[in-house]
Amino acid sequence: MTITTCIFDAYGTLFDVTAAARAAAAEPGREALAALWPRLAEEWRRKQLEYSWLRAVMGRHADFWTVTADALDWALEAAGLDDAGLRDRLLALYRELAAYPEVPGVLGVLKERGLAAAILSNGSPDMLAAAARSAGIGGLLDAVLSVESAGVFKPDARVYALVAERFGCGRHEVLFVSANGWDAAGAAAYGFRTVWVNRARLPVDRLPARPHHVVADLNPIPDLARS
Ligand code: LAC
Repeated sequence: MTITTCIFDAYGTLFDVTAAARAAAAEPGREALAALWPRLAEEWRRKQLEYSWLRAVMGRHADFWTVTADALDWALEAAGLDDAGLRDRLLALYRELAAYPEVPGVLGVLKERGLAAAILSNGSPDMLAAAARSAGIGGLLDAVLSVESAGVFKPDARVYALVAERFGCGRHEVLFVSANGWDAAGAAAYGFRTVWVNRARLPVDRLPARPHHVVADLNPIPDLARS
């Protein structure tokens, strides 16, 4: 089946989720953060994802901005960094995360080839709009789809169903791209053709479905969409 639509996860796939802590740590007067920012970034991300899954299981949805702030509060307390100014700065930086360097070029090639390209993310619509704007990629995307339309987080199938609602395409026409192994597994189980962007060179997740392709970054996506 020909691929017509490329769908991208946002955080970790298009946008570098470690960029906020890295940038804050480089600012003057942030010596305490500079000593431990990689661990803070890792725990912030881990708790953010755990809280999204746990809220889905509990049936207690809150938008991803709330979950992101809750996770940051946990990570700051665990790191012994009780600093309201730092909290505000990290959240502000999270709204303007850098895109990975290959992102604009890859999206540009997809557009040239006439493929539809969109984000499908846990992020709330305002977070995603701010990130796409600050990364300068808004004009290369046909849609920015948020789980808020489904009221539950990935990997609930109702989220992946938003793609057909928007684009009217069949599951086998979709190439779904995620750097999150569990998200790639969820999308593959749903029936999308799936690419796992294994930036961190991790083992494949032992979940009920596996990605069709594993790549190191986004550069191979236009060719995979054609194959
Ligand atoms: C997202 C999270 C999973 O963008 O990274 O949906």
